[in-house]
Amino acid sequence: MTSLVRGTQLARLLGQWHALPGRRRSPDYAALAAAVRGLIADARLPLGVRLPAERELAEALRVSRTTVTAAYRELRESGHVTSRRGAGSWTTLPGGHRVASSGLWTPLDDLDMIDLGCAAPAAPVELLSAARAAAEELPRYLGGAGYHPTGIGELREAVAAAYTRRGLPTSAEQIMITNGTQHALDLVLRLTLPAGAGVLVESPTYPNALAALAARRARLTTHGLAADAGGWDADLLLGSLRQTRPRLAYLIPEFQNPTGHLMPVDLRERLVATAQATGTDLVVDESFVDLPLDGTAMPAPTAVFDRHSRVVTIGGMSKPYWGGLRIGWVRAAAPQVQRLAAARVGVDMANPVLDQLLAVHLLADADAIVAARRAELAGRRDALVAALREFLPDWRVTVPRGGVTLWTELDGPISSALARATEEVGVRLAPGPRFGLDGTLERFLRLPFTLPAEELVEAVRRIAAVRYDLDQTARPRWREPAVIA
Ligand SMILES: Cc1ncc(COP(=O)(O)O)c(C=O)c1O
Repeated sequence: MTSLVRGTQLARLLGQWHALPGRRRSPDYAALAAAVRGLIADARLPLGVRLPAERELAEALRVSRTTVTAAYRELRESGHVTSRRGAGSWTTLPGGHRVASSGLWTPLDDLDMIDLGCAAPAAPVELLSAARAAAEELPRYLGGAGYHPTGIGELREAVAAAYTRRGLPTSAEQIMITNGTQHALDLVLRLTLPAGAGVLVESPTYPNALAALAARRARLTTHGLAADAGGWDADLLLGSLRQTRPRLAYLIPEFQNPTGHLMPVDLRERLVATAQATGTDLVVDESFVDLPLDGTAMPAPTAVFDRHSRVVTIGGMSKPYWGGLRIGWVRAAAPQVQRLAAARVGVDMANPVLDQLLAVHLLADADAIVAARRAELAGRRDALVAALREFLPDWRVTVPRGGVTLWTELDGPISSALARATEEVGVRLAPGPRFGLDGTLERFLRLPFTLPAEELVEAVRRIAAVRYDLDQTARPRWREPAVIA
């Protein structure tokens, strides 16, 4: 599944490579090699991608062919490129190491720890009254067996109505209720993805989605997101779909976890058209769609552009409401929902009825609950950004327009070492490489803003305190994996 990056595409990714910070008297070829290494380390240039021929890159960069030849030689020597006569050159990592993403879920029982591994908010106050109201309504269901593999009708109606309000006409038959978005993803993969099939994912992406894909033995290719400048590169993303023709692509267009990017509407439209042309099913994870901040206008849902049932949308209540509810859903064509329900019977049969009634009550109060959640998150995000600018001014922060996470660019490839060091001072972090699949992304850190502002500021203070000791003390050591959600 090697894909190919063209000379003009690589030139665009390289940007101002000849004027990178820290460059003084290094020759052009060394600067070019350093810039390519940077793209690989940041996962903008996926591993296993075929680089353009030397002549093509030289033309695109307007440098001599000798410069590119020398840069490729240096990259080969440092282990970032492998070449074979007749086959070309492709990107690698020194030592060829790949870090598999395993299920990263361990409960955190240390209450003194400030947990920035988990990007999920506490429950809204309305949850208790909704639970009481649900308990009172339960008798309506007690006369039946209680198994509803697609979900209880009233919750399916409520979820469908929310899609319709967003401009995506949806009937209850197109909705299946699941135990969270993660369960929705797993079921969709079970139904649609043959073992070993090709899947395109963003890099960075949500680690537990990678775990679900690993369980299906998916063969992954990645599309590297920029930390700033809008994230997706339309030309590279669509080009990669056309080249690798994956069976499925998993994308998070709304306030992408971890980068916080929002996919523009024109790319959504082109993405669906390209997926149709390449025979790729799109699994669109809308976990954060309810959480635009600062009045950000939301683009049309990706499935609006779907004419051929190529798009399966998954979503849930964990981020706007509460993860402990375990309510998610799939929106798909009605026959596909029936097939998913049939598959589910062999897995967990159905969701608890009581929890679904609770969800109906929360959704009936959505406007008030979600508005309060957005206001709370905006305040927390601003406190986190201010603390980072004060205590860690060398870190680059792109302020997200929604969602619950900041994708911070650090002042060096220190993310994992930092996460180990901060455990000593009571802060749990999810380092950048957790969000990739090959050990890249060490210059990045995901910081959620779901905790109260005082805790976020205190966490940043502690992180800053250990940051500057790192170079002396960093040593690799095994730690329990952090909770990532
Ligand atoms: C992109 C994404 N998908 C799915 C999930 C899992 O959500 P749920 O709790 O609904 O299973 C998360 C949780 O963090 C997420 O960020």
